[in-house]
Amino acid sequence: MIPLCIPEIRGNEWKYIKECLDTNWVSSAGKYVDLFEERFKEYIGSKKAIVTVNGTSALHLALSILGIGPGDEVIVPSMTFVASINPIIYVGAEPVFVDICRDTYVMDVNKVEELITEKTKAIMPVHIYGHPVDMEPLMKLAKKYNLYVIEDATEALGSEYMTSDGIWHKVGTIGDIGCFSFNGNKLITTGAGGMLVTNDEELGEKAKFLSTQAKVIGENKSFSHPEIGYNFRMPNLLAAMGVAQLEKIEEYIKIKRDNAKYYNQLLKEVEGITIPIEKDWAKNCYWLYSIVIEDEYGIKRDELIKIMAENKIETRPFFNPIHNMIPYKKYKCGKLTVTNELSRKGINLPSSVSLTFEDIDKIAKIIRRA
Ligand SMILES: Cc1ncc(COP(=O)(O)O)c(C=O)c1O
Repeated sequence: MIPLCIPEIRGNEWKYIKECLDTNWVSSAGKYVDLFEERFKEYIGSKKAIVTVNGTSALHLALSILGIGPGDEVIVPSMTFVASINPIIYVGAEPVFVDICRDTYVMDVNKVEELITEKTKAIMPVHIYGHPVDMEPLMKLAKKYNLYVIEDATEALGSEYMTSDGIWHKVGTIGDIGCFSFNGNKLITTGAGGMLVTNDEELGEKAKFLSTQAKVIGENKSFSHPEIGYNFRMPNLLAAMGVAQLEKIEEYIKIKRDNAKYYNQLLKEVEGITIPIEKDWAKNCYWLYSIVIEDEYGIKRDELIKIMAENKIETRPFFNPIHNMIPYKKYKCGKLTVTNELSRKGINLPSSVSLTFEDIDKIAKIIRRA
């Protein structure tokens, strides 16, 4: 079986976790929680990093600390994982669904302005499968209408965006807040985990405070809670794994980029297959290598998924559009032509760090033959 995307554990994970077990520092306090935040902040290039129990809670926290709530609208793509949308609803706001680009599969920035209303409070670009959203025009638009930008960078850790001054920025650091996930299928994993990053010191302080039950410890060690907080804390045990995983991140990104290049080489001439592009201003971490099965290919995307499964190759169709699902049908949408089309035609191919060129040869051969 060639899996879609599995964790890679080849560093200091055992050593650091063992240290937590040996010293009894297994819960939400401990040196690895601070170290993971410190190291992550350095890697990503943000002023603050606050670790959370998963990516969904990081997004929830982001919306909360920006004061987004009932009566507010957040513009977000429909072709994403449902965890981009649910936190908007948890805080009492409403998602407004925007279309995506045909070539990069991410939010079409040109279609955002027409959806802005008096209720719009924030835009949530999602760097789906690893390619960055075109952030510079998006930030200009946000400034024009005084809107917050929360980057859902959960699938794009390590991807980069170049602004017109030629400076490269890691995604997640361009908007007001960026959120990451360390779920088991992500580039680096802590089993389950997330991170909120921001360059605004005050927002960072607030995020830490609210994510740790908004707890104030008095002189006599008693607790008081001036606000209603959350328990979004990551245990030291998992943060220890995060520190070990982060030590390997550059190596993993290089492997994934090399694998994507090899996939491209083998698939670019296949009629009816559209390979992923990388814009001049983008560096894609290729979290999931993703192609589009065009009509000219001869068989439908779902038939190809079946053939791949018969050959013990795990693939995944692009996300179903959220706006078509029962709990989300009531929310406003732009014209979602590309979303609907790509959701029918897109497929993610195996993308683990442990994937070999021989695996890719085998996968490409089946795609060519099919
Ligand atoms: C686009 C997107 N947003 C949010 C999340 C939520 O992350 P988590 O599963 O860590 O809660 C995920 C990943 O699972 C995701 O793919």
